[in-house]
Amino acid sequence: MGIEVSTVGVTKSFGSQNIWQDVSLTLPTGEVSALLGPSGTGKSVFLKSLIGLLRPERGSIFIDGTDITTCSNKELYEIRKLFGVLFQDGALFGSMNLYDNTAFPLREHTKKSESEIKKIVMEKLELTGLLGAENKLPGEISGGMRKRAGLARALVLDPQIILVDEPDSGLDPVRTTYLAQLLIDINAQIDATILIVTHNINLARTVPDNIGMLFRRRLVMFGPREVLLTSEEPVVGQFLNGRMVGPIGMSEEKDEAQMAREQALADAGHYDSATEEIEGIIPQMKATPGMPVRQAVERRRRRVLDILHTLPPTAQEAIRESMNAEGATETFAR
Ligand SMILES: Nc1ncnc2c1ncn2[C@@H]1O[C@H](COP(=O)(O)OP(=O)(O)O)[C@@H](O)[C@H]1O
Ligand SMILES: [Mg+2]
Repeated sequence: MGIEVSTVGVTKSFGSQNIWQDVSLTLPTGEVSALLGPSGTGKSVFLKSLIGLLRPERGSIFIDGTDITTCSNKELYEIRKLFGVLFQDGALFGSMNLYDNTAFPLREHTKKSESEIKKIVMEKLELTGLLGAENKLPGEISGGMRKRAGLARALVLDPQIILVDEPDSGLDPVRTTYLAQLLIDINAQIDATILIVTHNINLARTVPDNIGMLFRRRLVMFGPREVLLTSEEPVVGQFLNGRMVGPIGMSEEKDEAQMAREQALADAGHYDSATEEIEGIIPQMKATPGMPVRQAVERRRRRVLDILHTLPPTAQEAIRESMNAEGATETFAR
């Protein structure tokens, strides 16, 4: 089963440039969470901080109870083995074929024999739909296959936490959906805690159990998907609908005057043709039929019911509705 990851008041800067501050969140055990945010808000920096590749100057990061910001290098080395990470570019070795790329962590971190390694590598290549492509070099395959190979490699050490940076980058919408389905199916099969970092609206609406958003060096919110998807925060609405009107600008955040000018244009109908607003919540992606039941679903249900009274009324209503819909399909299926 997955492992809980939590950050408490973490702050990260590079020199005088503060990236984000006071970020506190908990990735619940075995659930799928997404962290959204415009480009450059420090999503990748956050992901790298969670595995201890970057060290925040304030706050704590607890992985299974150990604070990786203060633990020894030896402890950190052990904790890293709990993670499978799919970096944005797949981070494959260009001169190694897919078999050797996938086998790499096993050869590096375990004393397994080549025959044991082969069994695991072939299993993960099959899981990610890459059987038959073992001998290909990363340069000889499509972007989608490279992503899947990166995922196969991220899975060989049986990670309890899977971090995925921009799974959609370089992929068309159809391949992105396949990859998203693969992540959900993997969650159903191994019950790992998953964090997906993305600016893909569609992924955010359909895949995760929980969603958070980084903006203006802060975590705007983090919680059950329904909270963000029904949020009336201007920045959230703008982001989810890909609108130009709102606090997010082309290269940076807008000032009040700019926002007021645009709002006047918007009120006059200038942007109407460019905005197709999506209202409410679309159903969450389910594991492919035949897969084990996602254990996270029932755990999350209990967890969310416990905190329901603390959530905004619109989110509470959306949660009740989706739980009723879930219940209805289950009864129907029986
Ligand atoms: N190793 C680093 N050294 C200095 N600045 C960095 C480093 N890594 C990232 N940054 C800066 O941190 C900011 C956030 O980057 P990043 O996490 O890649 O954003 P995102 O993934 O949300 O698009 C950027 O301004 C980037 O230039
Ligand atoms: Mg990034």
